Amino acid sequence: MPARLNISAPAFIWRMSRDPLGFLTRLHQQHGNFVFVRSGPRRLYLLIEPELVHQVLITENLKFSKSRGLEMTKRLLGNGLLTAGRELHLRQRRLVQPAFAKNRMAGYARVVIDTTREHLRRWRHGQFLDLSQEMMAITLDIITRTMFGDSIGERTPLVARAMHDSLAGFNVGLIPLMPLMQYLPLESNRRFWRGRRQLDAIIYDLIEQRRHTGDQGDFLSMLLMAPMSDEQLRDECMTIFLAGHETTANALTWTLALLAQHPTWMDRVGREIEAHGPENYAALEICRWVTQEAMRLYPPAWAIGRMAQEPVQIGGELLERGSVVIMSPAIAQRQSRYFPEPDTFRPERWQDAEHLPRFAYFPFGGGNRVCIGEHFARMEAVLMLAAVVAAWDYRMLDRMPTTQPGITLRPRGGLPVQLARR
Ligand code: HEM
Repeated sequence: MPARLNISAPAFIWRMSRDPLGFLTRLHQQHGNFVFVRSGPRRLYLLIEPELVHQVLITENLKFSKSRGLEMTKRLLGNGLLTAGRELHLRQRRLVQPAFAKNRMAGYARVVIDTTREHLRRWRHGQFLDLSQEMMAITLDIITRTMFGDSIGERTPLVARAMHDSLAGFNVGLIPLMPLMQYLPLESNRRFWRGRRQLDAIIYDLIEQRRHTGDQGDFLSMLLMAPMSDEQLRDECMTIFLAGHETTANALTWTLALLAQHPTWMDRVGREIEAHGPENYAALEICRWVTQEAMRLYPPAWAIGRMAQEPVQIGGELLERGSVVIMSPAIAQRQSRYFPEPDTFRPERWQDAEHLPRFAYFPFGGGNRVCIGEHFARMEAVLMLAAVVAAWDYRMLDRMPTTQPGITLRPRGGLPVQLARR
């Protein structure tokens, strides 16, 4: 049974908007692994226990839909895979899945390596830059090339800017009042609509181009062969653009920050890359542990939300229809029960992790809505990391960044560094 709390609506909104991750973390620390918060008409459950997460994402998943927190995201993504309701999702997932099949990964890996190297060649010894922005630029370029062919080319910076503009107002995406705020004449709203218009224009242009060039074997070609409206196509493309680059970029930024703080691990990564080469994905075991551990401490998708569509039993509690459930990898993955010294970066724990129960670690979610890009992202993170460390050393200019939980878990203030050639 959950611990029960009553919080006034203004206090709840204030805490969720100022620091949602801090607020939820305190709820967990003070009240345990299963917490019920009633706030005005809202009924919210925080689930941290692996068994309960399992019930929501797997056993009882048909009784839940995506939660309203995603409504904000819908403003940009429409009804793409991430935000689609059940029936549409089922159909679309089947159509999109082949783009992520195992036999495509080797081709994608080549693009990851070449694109990363291209970007790294522009770096200069002694240069100051923000690794967070660099990682965003590289992953955006990679997603464009792998999923849409090379057809965006020199417009990548424009896409990056439009993406940034349209996401600027999202940092508070979980706030209950946000749906109303989109109608206010705020600067962030103006930027959102401008960014969205630019992205739409680019995506519709891509679709039009590809109709003429025919099948190129990529994600976009695959969608074009399926029966789907232009609007649905646009939504799927926008979803992949967004879901497919910001998450991996953040995973890498946190990994690079943690390595700078842990020189012994930086050395081990360096030695592994020297021994096996930076392209040998299968052999880069230490790189895998390191990225996995970074995603444990700083999971890019820090909260996963659902809403009960009908009354449902979870952990012996009957959740009413309309109850919102929040499952947070960022909180769950720091439990000492499963991860001794939970706040410490200890990649070696992944050497022997078979004993972990399912959903003690779930940076990619689980069940029918599990991240479609999981294998792609794991491969991408390892190969990008190896490419960076093979060529460059860097010195962090500030202390370890704090977290800025928006749609994804970003490092506040980015990751400013000074580069040194290795
Ligand atoms: C480190 C990188 C990534 C992380 C941590 C991550 C995390 C997640 C999580 C937790 C979900 C499930 C959300 C939920 O259940 O509500 C998800 C869904 C999704 N992700 Fe990822 N993701 C990553 C990379 C990618 C990449 C590279 C792509 C595409 C190329 C991608 C595309 C998607 C899509 C389309 C969905 C919706 C799937 C569905 O509902 O069927 N993600 N991701």
